[in-house]
Amino acid sequence: MVEMKAQTKFGKRSTAEDVTRGVDLVGKVALVTGVNSGIGTETLRVLAARGAHVIGTARTLEKAREGCANADGATTPLACELTDLESIRACVASIGNEFEHLDIVVANAGIMALPRLEQVRGIEKQFATNHLGHFLLVTSLMDRLADGARVVMVSSEGHKGAPKTGIEFDNLSGEEGYGAIRAYGQSKLANILFARSLAKRLEGRATANSLHPGVIGTNLGRHINPLLSAVLGIFFMAFSKSVAQGAATSCLLAASPSVQGVTGRYYSDCAEAPCSDLAKDDALAERLWQISEELVS
Ligand SMILES: NC(=O)c1ccc[n+]([C@@H]2O[C@H](COP(=O)([O-])OP(=O)(O)OC[C@H]3O[C@@H](n4cnc5c(N)ncnc54)[C@H](OP(=O)(O)O)[C@@H]3O)[C@@H](O)[C@H]2O)c1
Repeated sequence: MVEMKAQTKFGKRSTAEDVTRGVDLVGKVALVTGVNSGIGTETLRVLAARGAHVIGTARTLEKAREGCANADGATTPLACELTDLESIRACVASIGNEFEHLDIVVANAGIMALPRLEQVRGIEKQFATNHLGHFLLVTSLMDRLADGARVVMVSSEGHKGAPKTGIEFDNLSGEEGYGAIRAYGQSKLANILFARSLAKRLEGRATANSLHPGVIGTNLGRHINPLLSAVLGIFFMAFSKSVAQGAATSCLLAASPSVQGVTGRYYSDCAEAPCSDLAKDDALAERLWQISEELVS
């Protein structure tokens, strides 16, 4: 694991194109989830523009095709509904049939702040989608990762809103208490903890990092009350980024030589950033890994 604090010459206003300028990804295979909207569409577009063959997934094949249509380069659309274990397994099987290796995985898809408790297989839906779906997808592809491959987990500063205990293992159903933002925070904390555990398991052969993309006006806020959304929009205007800027940290970690070898870190605005103490808790990360394995088996 690289111990130095890794900084780059890029920052908050850098775009995905800026951070990958001059990077040649010809011959590389990348996987990006959630390519039909927001940051995922731009991540796919820019990685393909730099020469990677990008497998773009979405909840349906039709949506994946729509996302891939935005790219000027080689793409393969695949369905991957992250709440459906069979859909994830079918996606993994298709990747295995068509590609010998993967060089980049950007686990980008996500949902935020469902106003009422929703469940998938008895598990709160944001945790099931944002964490468990990606956990199954990425761990199923671990033996396909090429030497030097990079796994990028799109998390959020919202991870700091997770419950005080971090992951509520005794309330993964949400039935013992549910808060929309708290549940989102828990799922995004899980993304960071997963990247941390994965970095250890991949040490010496591939890297895994997590990131906050910034505040970007995408479809992510679709579940937030429109009035609240408008108020928050005004409040966040000064901090917000364009989608091109929002995809920059993902693309930096996925492809830039400036972060080669960096692993187990959390980034924001194209630089290493402080995450919560819970997000650095290796015992919590390990417990999450074990329980996630049970929940997707
Ligand atoms: N925008 C921000 O300010 C912000 C801030 C912090 C973190 N993030 C993170 O950035 C990532 C991308 O978000 P975004 O802002 O680009 O949001 P977005 O525009 O809503 O895109 C989210 C993507 O995830 C997909 N998705 C949702 N549920 C899924 C499921 N069950 N299976 C497969 N795909 C699913 C969506 O597909 P559908 O369109 O079919 O639902 C969409 O393609 C998320 O992980 C989010 O947590 C965003």
